Amino acid sequence: MTFKIKIRGTNQEFTCEPGETVVDAGQNANIDIPFSCHSGICQTCKGHVYSGDYTYGDIEPIVELDESQGEILLCCAQPKSDMIIDHPDLLAPEAPKTQHATLNIIEKKN
Ligand code: FES
Repeated sequence: MTFKIKIRGTNQEFTCEPGETVVDAGQNANIDIPFSCHSGICQTCKGHVYSGDYTYGDIEPIVELDESQGEILLCCAQPKSDMIIDHPDLLAPEAPKTQHATLNIIEKKN
């Protein structure tokens, strides 16, 4: 049985095999979830989970996570159900905005 992982705020989703981490499944689907240590130390992969169950398996992350706020280490998390997640680097790019500004030029006199 595979699990469906949906990235909140985007149209992206991919499947994850039992025992596979979210980061690894994302890579297999060409979705680059940022990671570095892949072992629960650096927090590069820290995102949020909005629904679904997961386990860290044999890995015990050494960083403090606020699980009440849904913080999750995606490099270690192995889904046990379909999940909705996010990571700050995976948010859909916003549409360009027009910003008005005033430019003041100061000239230095010699
Ligand atoms: S990549 Fe380092 S904690 Fe996940």
